[in-house]
Amino acid sequence: MAGAPRRVVVGVSGATGTALAVRALQLLGAAGVERHLIVSPAARRTAAYELPEATFDAEVVHNFRDIGASIASGSYPVDAMIVIPCSVKTLGAIASGVSENLLVRAADVTLKERRRLVLCVRETPLHLGHLRAMVTATEIGAIIAPPMPAFYSMPESLDDVVDHIVARALSLIGVHVPGAPPWQGEPASAARAEGRRAGIERTQDRPTEGRRSAESEPGR
Ligand SMILES: Cc1cc2nc3c(=O)[nH]c(=O)nc-3n(C[C@H](O)[C@H](O)[C@H](O)COP(=O)(O)O)c2cc1C
Repeated sequence: MAGAPRRVVVGVSGATGTALAVRALQLLGAAGVERHLIVSPAARRTAAYELPEATFDAEVVHNFRDIGASIASGSYPVDAMIVIPCSVKTLGAIASGVSENLLVRAADVTLKERRRLVLCVRETPLHLGHLRAMVTATEIGAIIAPPMPAFYSMPESLDDVVDHIVARALSLIGVHVPGAPPWQGEPASAARAEGRRAGIERTQDRPTEGRRSAESEPGR
């Protein structure tokens, strides 16, 4: 992909991780990218449960059912697409090319036009069908980028974890935002030990009420 993208399609499907979609849209907007948004009905339901106050900001919001929208055609110039979070249902539809809604159609168009498509697939554990769909999606040109936390970055909050995941995912479509600074090599052991100690202290500082220890639950 040449240069930073100017127009990006953002698909939000019904996997858990509404915060990831909200943050991705915020960061794309801050980077001056024109955002074309498609939110599935299941994503709206998940959002209502996880983040009822969430707003999805975009320059253009498309109807999930509008398979006649601009972005349903390869002739409409778009630089890249990201699906964040991506359910295994949407992954399967993209892998098999069954474009029965605009989100999957836009992803299919992205692939046929040989544009960058990033799928932040979120499910665990995974059965063989999920894994096969990931292989197929990769074979036809998508990038599978599951939203997995990185602990080496020493996150201090859930926001740090979200920022790191989103920044890494956006970097795959050529949008470079703060939140995931490049790894500069392993820090000196003393500094590393200090960082680890700080992390442990933070964990120990958390209130213990409501937490259950393994010892208190025989058999676990
Ligand atoms: C609260 C909630 C969390 C969910 N989390 C996941 C998930 O992490 N991964 C997944 O594949 N599906 C998850 N689902 C199920 C999907 O929403 C469901 O399969 C839906 O049909 C996906 O449709 P879509 O891909 O068109 O958005 C979740 C559903 C709800 C209500």
